[in-house]
Amino acid sequence: MKRSKIASLLATDTAVGTIVDVRGWVRTRRGNKYVQFVALNDGSTVHNLQIVFDMNKFNDEELKPITTGASIHVTGRLVESQGKGQKYEIQADTLEIYGTADDTYPLQKKGHTLEFLREKAHLRPRTNTFGAVLRVRSALAYAIHKFFHNKGFFYLHTPLITSSDCEGAGAMFQVTTLPLNELPRTDEGNVDYSQDFFGKPTALTVSGQLEGELGATAIGEIYTFGPTFRAENSNTQRHLSEFWMIEPEMAFYDITDNMDLAEEFVKYCIRYVLDHCRDDIEFLAEHYDKELIDRLEFVLHNDFVRLTYTEGVEILEKSGHKFEFPVSWGVDLQSEHERYLVEKHFKKPVILTDYPKEIKAFYMKQNEDGRTVRAMDVLFPQIGEIIGGSEREADFGKLKQRIDELHIPMKDMCWYLDTRRYGTVPHSGFGLGFERLLLFCTGMTNIRDVIPFPRTPKNCEF
Ligand code: 4AD
Ligand code: MG
Repeated sequence: MKRSKIASLLATDTAVGTIVDVRGWVRTRRGNKYVQFVALNDGSTVHNLQIVFDMNKFNDEELKPITTGASIHVTGRLVESQGKGQKYEIQADTLEIYGTADDTYPLQKKGHTLEFLREKAHLRPRTNTFGAVLRVRSALAYAIHKFFHNKGFFYLHTPLITSSDCEGAGAMFQVTTLPLNELPRTDEGNVDYSQDFFGKPTALTVSGQLEGELGATAIGEIYTFGPTFRAENSNTQRHLSEFWMIEPEMAFYDITDNMDLAEEFVKYCIRYVLDHCRDDIEFLAEHYDKELIDRLEFVLHNDFVRLTYTEGVEILEKSGHKFEFPVSWGVDLQSEHERYLVEKHFKKPVILTDYPKEIKAFYMKQNEDGRTVRAMDVLFPQIGEIIGGSEREADFGKLKQRIDELHIPMKDMCWYLDTRRYGTVPHSGFGLGFERLLLFCTGMTNIRDVIPFPRTPKNCEF
């Protein structure tokens, strides 16, 4: 027989009364000598399907290996359940045991802490919580592609191994095949990268934006969606060393168009999750964050507040609030400042624009005031910064001057400057941290819990 997924059996009543074939992992078994009940989960939904074994048809020995974690295959009739807690159940006819799980199986009881499950990250997908998170993650990835395709954007594949440093922060993972114990040296004593695999220093990308701009200034509107790597030693609840980023880049967009797109985009994602992942979101809300659904609805139904960095800093200064990091014009905002604006002051998502140029990347469009650039950060409750972006400097002279001021080696930037040298256009883009969006949508608080295999400083399992 062909396997049915539990999600589809529970979704409609069309299979009721028919013989079905289900396969999955046992969550629990209980019962007495007349009847035994098995809660079966196959990962297609957070809900288990109850399998009823009539002990006139089965014997104790057959059912003995059915312990928590075992994998089984059952056929039987799907019927309406008389018991509480479930709509349908299966009256088992046949049983096949694929694999047993003895009492060393780490996920014996319910209600393990997230910390414990992080230690067992190879098995945690089998829990309800991580099943829910992984399904939401997959749905959201699909929604993102759908959103951009509906708008006529092209999906551009930017490289993961790169020879340029987009954000200029220097927090890159070097990629090399040179023997680290006996590095080849030039006559001056420097590492001789001409002997390295690519013949020059290379690293994992911190952002696909610069290559994204090459795409946007040719085919108009593009987005990237892929892994991104940052070797910052940040051990926080919101930083990963390997995370996924979505970076749209659009020709002929100014910063207002950019903000409009960012707002529409995140609202689309949230709507999609509410419409398509309801069971998982309800499960997560019940177990981790009672206000989750209200918060998602709230963001959907309110305009984001837009104000400048300068106005934001004024509000923070006047607030009288004691921040751990003092705030004044020119400082890079910490997440406590961002969250104050969003959670305490406006009680809405905020888009902050026009930051001091010193704290932002070289490629941002310079304002007439000579002090600020046309940056935009989208700040969210619980998360802080979820999106960073800007209108780009389209003027060749101004961009080159900024590159010189920051001592970025010009030979590395020639290709990028060609977009301004030939047929330059106003353009804009932003980057959304996929896992930060997932934190918001799932109510999880630690970013290690929304990616299957987290990479953080001193932690790279599997
Ligand atoms: O603000 P960032 O550094 O911006 C860029 O990389 C631009 N090149 C984007 C662009 O304009 N195309 O990063 C963008 C977003 C942040 O707002 C945050 O959501 C996420 O990426 N992010 C991280 N997420 C998880 N772990 C980290 N270490 C992250 N660093 C940034
Ligand atoms: Mg940023």
